[in-house]
Amino acid sequence: MNREEWLKDRFHVVTASAEETASVGAQFGKVCQPGDLVALRGPLGGGKTCFVQGVASGRGIHVSVKSPTFTLIHRYQGANQEMWHVDCYRLSETTDPQELGLDELMEAGGLMLVEWAERIDGWISRYPHFDISFRIRSVNEREITITHVR
Ligand SMILES: Nc1ncnc2c1ncn2[C@@H]1O[C@H](COP(=O)(O)OP(=O)(O)OP(=O)(O)O)[C@@H](O)[C@H]1O
Ligand SMILES: [Mg+2]
Repeated sequence: MNREEWLKDRFHVVTASAEETASVGAQFGKVCQPGDLVALRGPLGGGKTCFVQGVASGRGIHVSVKSPTFTLIHRYQGANQEMWHVDCYRLSETTDPQELGLDELMEAGGLMLVEWAERIDGWISRYPHFDISFRIRSVNEREITITHVR
């Protein structure tokens, strides 16, 4: 799929393994551009981090992407590009996303992927973004839906 199609159409897929989810992430990562914001939603173990690993590899960033649960923001440096992996799981209700400096990172033009985006929806909705939701269908099946929100 080219970028126009990802922007225009709702994409829906059911993956049957972690590898498949990473490969959908890699496909998606190839059409991402600097400055894109990606909101990842869904339960614990839904496959969000697995998808992010795929995005990094699709963009030629070869790092072992770990879940940034204990560090809020991880930076992955590729050739001529930066990718920010944010995990809002541990954010308290009262944290103001503006204090996290996410606007500055967006202005700098990196690609940003946010796990538990629902915790900072007010901030997310101020930017056009890709919305990616994960649903657990069975031990190994994940339903992934991607939409672009303006
Ligand atoms: N189809 C699938 N896609 C993705 N992961 C799968 C799939 N089937 C099984 N799994 C397993 O589910 C887990 C997904 O973990 P992952 O860390 O990606 O979830 P997460 O959504 O980031 O969770 P958290 O909210 O805790 O950060 C892994 O252990 C992975 O092996
Ligand atoms: Mg995760």
